[in-house]
Amino acid sequence: MIRLDKLRSGIGNIDILHDIDLTVMPGELVVVLGANGAGKTTLLRTISGLVEVRGGTIEFDGQEIQRTKAHELARSGLVHVPQGRQIIPTLTVEENLAVGAEHLPNLGRGEIARRIEIEYHRFPVLKTRRQILGGSLSGGEQQMLAVSRGLMMAPKLLMLDEPSLGLAPQALQRILAALGELAKSGIAVLMVEQKTSALQIAERAYVLKNGVIVHHALAADLRNDADVFRHYMN
Ligand SMILES: Nc1ncnc2c1ncn2[C@@H]1O[C@H](COP(=O)(O)OP(=O)(O)O)[C@@H](O)[C@H]1O
Ligand SMILES: [Mg+2]
Repeated sequence: MIRLDKLRSGIGNIDILHDIDLTVMPGELVVVLGANGAGKTTLLRTISGLVEVRGGTIEFDGQEIQRTKAHELARSGLVHVPQGRQIIPTLTVEENLAVGAEHLPNLGRGEIARRIEIEYHRFPVLKTRRQILGGSLSGGEQQMLAVSRGLMMAPKLLMLDEPSLGLAPQALQRILAALGELAKSGIAVLMVEQKTSALQIAERAYVLKNGVIVHHALAADLRNDADVFRHYMN
């Protein structure tokens, strides 16, 4: 679904990512692990068209997109759940979900309502909180809302920036389970994380360090090899 080939990107006069090769197949869940400052957020923002590509190619759903604008990418099914969730605190849960669909101007009210119901089925707690302001939700509920808001776009590729950050264990398990189910339904899922919990559900993992992919393995192998993992993460 997505293929990066020798991707380079940067901000201002700093090059941040260097020759990144990475793929995610439809229905596959891939995690990129890296310490703080490794370049994880820059990676997702580059794919999303928010950081300048300085070399290499990004192929999404069979087309080169390294020069495509962010809002066009979102419309074509490349959806990014940003670090820190960025839900709108002054809108209700239901309004936040409706906002999620706003990049798809031709979606009728009925279809928006149908998609909201699917999200309430996925995360029933959001239904019970539907009239609550986004800013009043717990961290776990906010992350569920951020995932659901992204899913309102019916993505082919769903990218998540540290969804596990600051979550209680139960909420984390609920979200990981939902992401695993999404991949099973055929969506490509790419997450970046500092913590290893996503290795439970991922098929493959890359390790990013100082803007370079330094390791690539089956998630199961990395799970069983904590020493290798510590070596690359430090
Ligand atoms: N807007 C920016 N301007 C300059 N440097 C930045 C900017 N954003 C990130 N960086 C630098 O790029 C590197 C990678 O940052 P980031 O992608 O946020 O890492 P991560 O998400 O893995 O913590 C860091 O060294 C950071 O200081
Ligand atoms: Mg980050």
